[in-house]
Amino acid sequence: MVEKVIIENCRSDFPVLQGGAVSYLDSAASAQKPRAVIDAMSEVMETHYSNIHRGLYSFSQVTTEKFEAVRKMVAGFIGAESDKEIVFTRNATESINLVAQSWGREFLEKGDEVILSEMEHHANIVPWQLLRDQIGVVIKVVPVLDDGTLDLDAFERMLTPQTKLVSVVHVSNALGTVNDVKKITAIAKDFYPAMKVLVDGSQAVVHKVVDVQDIGCDFYVFTGHKLYGPTGVGVLWGKYGVLETMPPYQGGGDMIEKVEFSHTTYKKPPARFEAGTPAIIEVIGLGAAIEYVQSIGIDAIMAHEADLLGYAMDKFGSVDGLTFYGTAPDKAGIISFTADWGHPSDIATILDQCGVAVRTGHHCCQPIMARFDVDATVRASLGLYSSKGDIDALTNGLLKAKELLG
Ligand SMILES: Cc1ncc(COP(=O)(O)O)c(C=O)c1O
Repeated sequence: MVEKVIIENCRSDFPVLQGGAVSYLDSAASAQKPRAVIDAMSEVMETHYSNIHRGLYSFSQVTTEKFEAVRKMVAGFIGAESDKEIVFTRNATESINLVAQSWGREFLEKGDEVILSEMEHHANIVPWQLLRDQIGVVIKVVPVLDDGTLDLDAFERMLTPQTKLVSVVHVSNALGTVNDVKKITAIAKDFYPAMKVLVDGSQAVVHKVVDVQDIGCDFYVFTGHKLYGPTGVGVLWGKYGVLETMPPYQGGGDMIEKVEFSHTTYKKPPARFEAGTPAIIEVIGLGAAIEYVQSIGIDAIMAHEADLLGYAMDKFGSVDGLTFYGTAPDKAGIISFTADWGHPSDIATILDQCGVAVRTGHHCCQPIMARFDVDATVRASLGLYSSKGDIDALTNGLLKAKELLG
């Protein structure tokens, strides 16, 4: 039984944030790691590390059990029907490439349409462009309205009998918009029940309780390092009936039943999609991260971030000349802005000198930058450990930057 943790006390769980030297406001790029994750990963290496699924000795059995327990934990975390629906990948990017190259190459044909949105991360654009180059699918793009919400009327008008897949982000990493993916899925499936829906939940699992069965989608992907877990591990959830129809993505050890030079047969999912030695230590670290997040409660994290977001928007009122991108109601704790007195890179450099870490650039979302006619924004993104002190440091840093650049 995991002990309930009060969110205001959580900052002390993150060794890197001790001493107060840095106000870390780049959690949307990658979140800091709590002691629980660091310890869980060290424990594997210090006490029972070995490869999994193969050894009959106890180290291997303990490590295999811990690894497979995380599959169950992930299934529970996102409301999957079974842990057999959870495929471990390297990151969200690999999860989407897996769907494009396995499901996409098997079931899509020249002229079939894939609908994306204007606010997608490059990870949910480029894999479909590769597929377009390989087999000639057509990519259509749902536009974004001025406040950063998706134009769902345009989406409905876009659907045709050729539309086979809708692949859309749950929470935008550039704007913070929370898309109504349940409604998007319902619109797609009402039009054509066999249409597939993929949801990129990379930013959503950290801010929202996710229930893939309630959403009704076919695939849901996320990445471990934004969820306070390690790098090198991601998740693809797929409805079992869909995963079963998909050919392997990569070939190698652990995904086969029998190999002969003339013919090879493959295991059932999820093993079919996990060729080679997986990220054993990292998967166990991801399990510790999920346990940690659940000990606080996603709802408590969401409320804390909403509170800080409101506080930040009030504080920013004292800084002239800012333009904000993504002002939709109920958005996540991701604040993107430009200033009429300085370039984002210069602002970020000065903020760094003030001990404030923010992200600048296109955030791997060049199309949405083009939509808002900017090359780059400054992005401050909140995590469960963020505090009003961090927002105060950011505001003071911005006032300093304005003084120097303005
Ligand atoms: C919305 C979204 N999708 C996908 C990704 C890609 O994540 P990864 O690089 O871990 O695969 C990111 C990372 O920034 C993201 O924010």
